[in-house]
Amino acid sequence: MKTPAIVINFKAYPQVVGEKGLELAKLCDSVAKKNNVEIVVVPQMVDLGLIVKSVDIPVFSQHVDPVEPSGKTGHVTPESVKGVNASGTLINHSEKRMRIADIDSAVKKCREIGLETIVCSNNLDVSKACSLTNPDFVAVEPPELIGGDVSVTAANPEIVKTTVNEIKKINPNVKVLCGAGVKNGNDVKKALELGAEGVLLASGVVKAKNQKDVLEDLIKGI
Ligand code: G3P
Repeated sequence: MKTPAIVINFKAYPQVVGEKGLELAKLCDSVAKKNNVEIVVVPQMVDLGLIVKSVDIPVFSQHVDPVEPSGKTGHVTPESVKGVNASGTLINHSEKRMRIADIDSAVKKCREIGLETIVCSNNLDVSKACSLTNPDFVAVEPPELIGGDVSVTAANPEIVKTTVNEIKKINPNVKVLCGAGVKNGNDVKKALELGAEGVLLASGVVKAKNQKDVLEDLIKGI
């Protein structure tokens, strides 16, 4: 995934179930191509393979379990995500927390098989710990701002700036994204000014009355 990037997590929202998820992914694909910007989609798990086949932009999984392909039920192995040609995965999202040992195993497995990783974190200390697992990205998202109307870039710009600076000292290979409450191009612009290399957002796009208008506004911040 190239940066600066706008990463859109479809979560488990009803607005993107079935055909509607595919439509949003195609819309992101067309806005990205038309404007030559990096938009990454993170669809619902059941749509992953179909959406990878239907768009050219990077498609990420919402989660992977650190388990070997074996007699397991209900798990998502990194190999199964790679198997449908997805580009990468979120790990440790606020709504799907994992233990640090499991984050570490998942990141290592993904790196080994060629899946990019975005490890989510809730604060500076956790971001620093996660950067030691050597993911491609750490996405800092204060949980209290997730799904709300105030962007992390306005409510807590300091956490974005400090996370960028501290992670650079620990592991300069890790890029930082920020998220929670991001809704428009100004929020994206501010995120980049604070040193982030992109944003991770969900409700601002998925729940919008006009998803195209929001996408076109978001990319103005790049
Ligand atoms: O994964 C993105 C996320 O947790 C932020 O959600 O709705 O605040 O953009 P939202």
